[in-house]
Amino acid sequence: MLQESNPPLTKKYQPKTVKEILGQEKALRELQLYLKDFQKGRRKAAILYGPPGSGKTIAVYTLAQEHNLEVLELNASDFRNADQIESVLGSAVKQRSLFSKGKIILVDEIDGLSGKQDRGGIQALTKLVSESRFPIICTANNPFDQKFASLRKKAALIEFQHLHYLAIYQVLQHICKKEHIQYEEDALKTLARMAGGDCRAAINDLQILTERKKKLEKRDVELLSQREQQETIIQALVKIFKTTDPSIAIASLNNVDEDYDRIMLWLDENMPKEYKKTEDLARAYDYLSKADMFNRRIRRWQHWRFLVYVNAFLTAGIAVSKKEKYPGFTGYQPPGRILKLWQANMKYQKRKSIAEKIAAKTHTSTSRVIQDTLPYIKEIFKKDKEQGRKLQEEFDLEQEEVEWMQEWR
Ligand SMILES: Nc1ncnc2c1ncn2[C@@H]1O[C@H](COP(=O)(O)OP(=O)(O)OP(=O)(O)O)[C@@H](O)[C@H]1O
Ligand SMILES: [Mg+2]
Repeated sequence: MLQESNPPLTKKYQPKTVKEILGQEKALRELQLYLKDFQKGRRKAAILYGPPGSGKTIAVYTLAQEHNLEVLELNASDFRNADQIESVLGSAVKQRSLFSKGKIILVDEIDGLSGKQDRGGIQALTKLVSESRFPIICTANNPFDQKFASLRKKAALIEFQHLHYLAIYQVLQHICKKEHIQYEEDALKTLARMAGGDCRAAINDLQILTERKKKLEKRDVELLSQREQQETIIQALVKIFKTTDPSIAIASLNNVDEDYDRIMLWLDENMPKEYKKTEDLARAYDYLSKADMFNRRIRRWQHWRFLVYVNAFLTAGIAVSKKEKYPGFTGYQPPGRILKLWQANMKYQKRKSIAEKIAAKTHTSTSRVIQDTLPYIKEIFKKDKEQGRKLQEEFDLEQEEVEWMQEWR
């Protein structure tokens, strides 16, 4: 959480001029063009669209500043009906007074507007566009929804791209310099990459990580990404545990970037916290053990088509194991001791499987290889790519096994 005493860095370093908006040159050019077109009476409206935190809203404000225009901002709730807009805007839209400043009307985040006739938010907006004397700029995450069809015909569509991570990196660097934050270049770049094109998210992450110490290290960023992964898996657990509808549960793991072994550990750790009735818990464990069984078969025999069953048991199966939902909030926890055991075990197994392959080719025992050969060979994998490639071929090692040797200390 951001502390109240510190103003958000996104506010503090929000671009003041169009030039300070990075990585959106094309969109900004199109926006300037649109304004010219508007002045020539050609295009009434523009829709800026693209992912969150890519600079849409801030582009409108800086552009207005540069053209000495005032921004009149409307939001979705002003569009419940046409009368309401009239009362918000008054006559400002229809007649241009000689003395007042020129305006841009910004309708931010139109995604939420209703397209239904009876509520008519979009109709009201479209009507406003026809009547307005001022340029109307809308922002949207997805303007291609059918409901915007008639509005789109009147508007210039301007795309804001997912920001390239180097553009975000540049913004972060600038902030670090101004805020006297020391950083490891790698750490800051990773932070920029992790934001997935969302500059606002990147700046917020930077603020959270450097709130207490004015320093950013690789370690901090790693912790953050672990935390994010945990958040997505916890969201999935909520879906599985808090619904009895299998069709909702079944999609819950779609965005979770963890393998099924780890997901099972999470479920195992948290199931008893959620399912208080013994019968529910028993049914849930039954599904969990079935999933585990199928998962092992996949590993052993490469029966990949079993994957859908594993997923179904873990999501829909566990969800319908309860007769009814348990009310209230449950604080889900990462799996503790078992996860560590499992990790150690995986490490051990990988080492063993590599050693077995080498032992077979060199006619020695696996334990000999583990003791004498591996410590030496792993250094070759770390230092000499070319030799490493040859050894990989000779011993028939998987890419994963090679990577494991390179990282093994
Ligand atoms: N291209 C950019 N260059 C520099 N800073 C940016 C850029 N894009 C976003 N930012 C930073 O992120 C903040 C949020 O940007 P903005 O509000 O314009 O995003 P948005 O595209 O409107 O997102 P949303 O769709 O969530 O409304 C800005 O205040 C600014 O600090
Ligand atoms: Mg915005």
